[in-house]
Amino acid sequence: MRSGGDAPVTVTHLTAPTDHRAQMIEDVRHGLTAYRKHLASKYFYDARGSELFDQITRLPEYYLTRAETEILSERADEIMKDVQPDELIELGSGSSHKTHLLVEAMYRSSTGRRYVPVDISEEALRTAASRLCDDYEWLEVEGLVGDYVPDLGKIRRRGRRIIVFLGSTIGNYVPTLRHSLLRSVADALEPGDGFVLGLDLVKDEPTMIAAYDDAQGVSAEFNKNILYVINRELGGDIPVDAFEHVTRFDRELACMAQSLRASREVVANIRALDLAVTFIAGEEIHTEVSCKFSKPQVEQEFDAAGMRLDSWFMDDGEGFAVAVASLQPPQEDSNLRQPN
Ligand code: AVJ
Repeated sequence: MRSGGDAPVTVTHLTAPTDHRAQMIEDVRHGLTAYRKHLASKYFYDARGSELFDQITRLPEYYLTRAETEILSERADEIMKDVQPDELIELGSGSSHKTHLLVEAMYRSSTGRRYVPVDISEEALRTAASRLCDDYEWLEVEGLVGDYVPDLGKIRRRGRRIIVFLGSTIGNYVPTLRHSLLRSVADALEPGDGFVLGLDLVKDEPTMIAAYDDAQGVSAEFNKNILYVINRELGGDIPVDAFEHVTRFDRELACMAQSLRASREVVANIRALDLAVTFIAGEEIHTEVSCKFSKPQVEQEFDAAGMRLDSWFMDDGEGFAVAVASLQPPQEDSNLRQPN
């Protein structure tokens, strides 16, 4: 343990903080005036939303977190030995057991001591960072507040790096955005660096559906929380109890899709938008996709982003995977080759 005051934690904003609110106003206006209404899943995570998600990770139906933890407890050392990183950049704030496993394995493999979490929530970053610093006196933490796609390129390099994106959070990105995200990761890598990606795999529908519609109703509360967030942040009066939690598997996209369905007609006012929104009975607000993957799919998506799959680790149940990737070796240009 080290005393709170001298913990080497810094927090830097990659995007100006006022931009977040402006962005939220624009996103919510766009989403609630669209032909098919939608809200971005990043708005689930205020303090209560983060607490509800934490509860989800402990539900019997939500196998994802346990499976990924199992893989990382067995493979973290192997992953870190292959890359020998000086710094670990985590997309997401990571106060979890999984982050601890990776940070410890980095230190063991290469005495890498720099941990750089990137998150849109400054508060989540500070909480996670100070917990990690309390646990490891050798750790340097530089928290970065920002959005992954536009901001990854702004992270200053301090040696060989490993970028990690856990929890199958990449599943929240529809294919086009996923491609942009993987591209921006590839742009932030140099030869020898590594990228570690946690992925939930396509499996039987009842198992996937139960993970997003648990018996205790925590997933439902988590989904509805986005309406509380809008009401509070944007001065809305959306009657949350008029909406029900819906989840379904979209086979075409191989995604679980979450939405909120109005059980009656609703008219809500949102002051910050100066907007009255009408929902007809049965109308849905789309809130989240949680895409599921297969190994060939992942290989192809890495390839399209200029990376290649180096390792693929699954849990015993083969329901979840941790993929390790790196930059593709430079292509030999056949035009430059001497004829022989
Ligand atoms: C944190 C994005 C990985 O999609 O499985 C859990 C969020 N949503 N239950 C997921 C979530 C509903 C979760 N991720």
